[in-house]
Amino acid sequence: MSENISVLISEEKIKNRIHEIAMQLNEKYKGEKVTIVCTLKGAFVFTADLVRELDIDIRMEFISASSYKGTESTGTLVMKQSVDKPITNENVIVVEDILDTGRTLKHLSEYFKKQQPKSLMFVTLLDKPDRRVTDIQCDIVGFTIPDKFVVGYGLDYDQQYRNLPYIGVINVQQEVK
Ligand code: IMP
Ligand code: MG
Repeated sequence: MSENISVLISEEKIKNRIHEIAMQLNEKYKGEKVTIVCTLKGAFVFTADLVRELDIDIRMEFISASSYKGTESTGTLVMKQSVDKPITNENVIVVEDILDTGRTLKHLSEYFKKQQPKSLMFVTLLDKPDRRVTDIQCDIVGFTIPDKFVVGYGLDYDQQYRNLPYIGVINVQQEVK
């Protein structure tokens, strides 16, 4: 299944970076309660590994949102699943798989700010800055990557490859004519 994928970020590099991010969060939120919002589906693996390195008091929420471009350039947010409990007055960390155009995060940021959390931060495993069309920035970025379509470690191509333990790039076969 993974024979046509080349490794972009190894399992070991991901593990080390997650450890660093977790240390940063443990320090920042020491003694505080935090709500971790995992954005499905792509961030499920990253979130699972990250929360197991946290030694702060957390509760989990899972949301499913996507941004559809439609006719407007900024698009709209389609929320398929939202938080069970309001996040008002809570410390919230939203965990994303990848920041691409930034549309999804821009909408999510507005969506969560309206609920008036005590604090709000965004953590993304990957960032593809070349593709950005919004002014959104993530507070913590795991890895900045070139403009390539990546899979694995939760990320999919047509729902495939989410279970690869590394981040890879699909090799496109050139058809010989
Ligand atoms: P955007 O930042 O609103 O453009 O969208 C980000 C979403 O697009 C991510 O949460 C992914 O679901 C998807 N996405 C963007 N780039 C990639 C990629 O390289 N591989 C897999 N999914 C991607
Ligand atoms: Mg996503």
